[in-house]
Amino acid sequence: MLLPEELEIRSLGPCTIPSPLLRLHGVGFVDDANRIRLEHRIGPHVEEEGASFEEAGPRREIYFNPARTTAAVVTCGGLSPGLNNVIRSVFSELAYNYEIPRVLGVRDGYMGLNPDSGLNTVELTSSFVDHIHDLGGTVLGSSRGPQDPAVIVDTMVREAIDILFCVGGDGTQRGALAISDEAQRRGLDKAIVGIPKTIDNDIPFVYTSFGYYTALEMAQEVLRGAHVEARCAPNGIGLVKLMGRNAGYIAAGASLASQDANFVLIPEVPFRLEGEDGFLAALERRILTKRHALVVVAEGAGQDLMMADSIRRDASGNILHQDIGLFLREEIKRYFKSRNIEINLKYIDPSYIIRSVPANSSDRILSDQMARMAVHAAMAGKTGMMIGYIHNELIHVPIRASVSREKKVDTASDLWTAVMRGTGQPVW
Ligand code: F6P
Repeated sequence: MLLPEELEIRSLGPCTIPSPLLRLHGVGFVDDANRIRLEHRIGPHVEEEGASFEEAGPRREIYFNPARTTAAVVTCGGLSPGLNNVIRSVFSELAYNYEIPRVLGVRDGYMGLNPDSGLNTVELTSSFVDHIHDLGGTVLGSSRGPQDPAVIVDTMVREAIDILFCVGGDGTQRGALAISDEAQRRGLDKAIVGIPKTIDNDIPFVYTSFGYYTALEMAQEVLRGAHVEARCAPNGIGLVKLMGRNAGYIAAGASLASQDANFVLIPEVPFRLEGEDGFLAALERRILTKRHALVVVAEGAGQDLMMADSIRRDASGNILHQDIGLFLREEIKRYFKSRNIEINLKYIDPSYIIRSVPANSSDRILSDQMARMAVHAAMAGKTGMMIGYIHNELIHVPIRASVSREKKVDTASDLWTAVMRGTGQPVW
């Protein structure tokens, strides 16, 4: 349940400066009163007036005076295809359309805004960003881990940074919110705007995050290879582990795209190994009838099956999972040996390869649009917010509303239903 006040966008003040975009032709200005409904279905149990979000887009009047504004962009967390496209489009929109004289790039994530790191910001120029959209990764560098928001705001004051674009996942957005709260507490005119990023596609109110479809394309190639290997050996089993810490979107999406998977194991759907209706018996039935199988497992799946001595976390505070891929490989081998059935198991973990490549066309378009919308929002003095994406529309989402929720594969959704139909796997 979302309360209307939860979706209000924080603003630095009234917009009184005519947008420099007025000189351009065909700009579709958007009014703050334009809203996009979260629930777009019509039906007997659907509220007529449900929650709605501010529509993203250029405003006719803006808050910051472009000639006297400095903006900076920081990329944090794990890589996602499209990061360089975001950096380039943020720069292009600011420099060419709003004619902002100074745009900075922050090195190595939030760490680069802490003077103790010894890192300096870099001034973005057209030659700096010229070819970066063809590269994987982020030319600015990235890192995990929080920094003291007070130290970051001090740096923003010292470097006269008025606007900070924070490109990253939920940890990054939590950091952006803390920076925005700190600036507000001090009564400073600083706009902090998030651009959501993760190949895991698990950020609430972001239907697709940039990088997800590129990662799927790479993952789907891996599944194709694993399937070929499995088919070409007697009782061949291809076992592929894909990224997806808390949500199974990559495993589900890549399996659906490939249409070759027979079992898809994701964190949202617990499964048992043993017993007649367990995974191993189902795999045996498949091998005995079809003589090959392709199993896709998300890294966050089946964690309850493995004994962990203690919970370990990464620098962003995410739980570091036990390796379900290696665990399943050993369990499958053990099981078939105990059943006296010879198998040929090929285990593939493409790991970082699926996220370190340049963005495909759809992610290039999405990252460009999200970047430009973030610029419009920031120039209009909006803060503590990030760009969201629902019903094919880009929206303004208060960061607090997003980071206080979780996005997981809905097992009643068309996506998961299609995976179940396509694989024919049992309901565990
Ligand atoms: O960004 C999300 C993600 O790719 C997850 O799927 C994965 O668990 C995690 O990042 C690994 O990132 P790193 O090893 O760089 O911390």
